[in-house]
Amino acid sequence: MLPLNLLATVFTAGLAIAASIPPLPGVAEGRPTLDVPTLPEVQAMLARLQGPIISTIISRAALPAESLLYANGGKALTSFIHKTELIALTLNTYEFGSRYDYGSLEYPFTLPAVGPDITTPTNPFPPGRFHQDTFTPNADLLSFYVTTLVPLIEDANTAIAGPGGSSPFYHLKRPSSPVDVDAKYTLDDQLLALLSHWASIGKVVAEVKYRAHVAEFTPLIKSGNVNALRTLLTNTTQEKIVLESANSAAFALATAFEAAQNDPPAIAKAFVSRVQTAVARVYRELIDVTKEVEIQYLLQRFH
Ligand SMILES: *[C@@H]1O[C@H](CO)[C@@H](O)[C@H](O)[C@H]1NC(C)=O
Repeated sequence: MLPLNLLATVFTAGLAIAASIPPLPGVAEGRPTLDVPTLPEVQAMLARLQGPIISTIISRAALPAESLLYANGGKALTSFIHKTELIALTLNTYEFGSRYDYGSLEYPFTLPAVGPDITTPTNPFPPGRFHQDTFTPNADLLSFYVTTLVPLIEDANTAIAGPGGSSPFYHLKRPSSPVDVDAKYTLDDQLLALLSHWASIGKVVAEVKYRAHVAEFTPLIKSGNVNALRTLLTNTTQEKIVLESANSAAFALATAFEAAQNDPPAIAKAFVSRVQTAVARVYRELIDVTKEVEIQYLLQRFH
């Protein structure tokens, strides 16, 4: 349940709210049993995240990236994310629980994640039932973000504005160095949470595939055969569909963004193509990181 002592250190007001909330029904006796949907349903959920992911990349590219803000492996960004994650905990409600509860498939970057499931005779976790593991894609995604994505965002921003970047915020005090650091970190935080959620849905993808091929997966899981698991989990036809769809959406959304800005065609063209480059790189990374999520999920499947 809630690490109340953690909240107390930062948000006394939040603590008061959280403390007045009775525990979720059923939590005391054990976790709910969660069965996974069909593969097309899971793919539809991933598709629904495409618009939010790409439009957040575009919104972020409207601001200069400023590599200095991401020094030391994104230390300052991580500390910003930590504060937003603490707020998420204070928003815990009786009816719905919090963003990082069991089964939400949202895993915090800076707080302890929900603990793993343990198979028992009373809950044997039959194929098709979600089994929480300890792996999260967050460290990989944060490192990708800081080292690979920030420079691509910077490129896209300079297409609009030239070196030095451009910001949609209008401050009468200009010209001055950009002061919209919290606006940048807010978008970074939102984008990272979306990417993490996308990749974490890989746990469900893994369970769906395991349910469909129990006899093939079981010996590979038991012998820890990572390469064979990777091969069995890979569907390059489906990957191609996802990459092409992301590319078309990036083109459409970035073109609409540019049309709204009324930029000259050469600038619009450069921005759109740099957004497409960033989105292609993000989706390649998502597919690879998600496969790692699937493999790690399966390796702990019989725990
Ligand atoms: C791979 O993905 C494609 C497209 O979604 C699908 O039609 C095909 O059945 C999948 N192949 C396997 C072996 O699951």
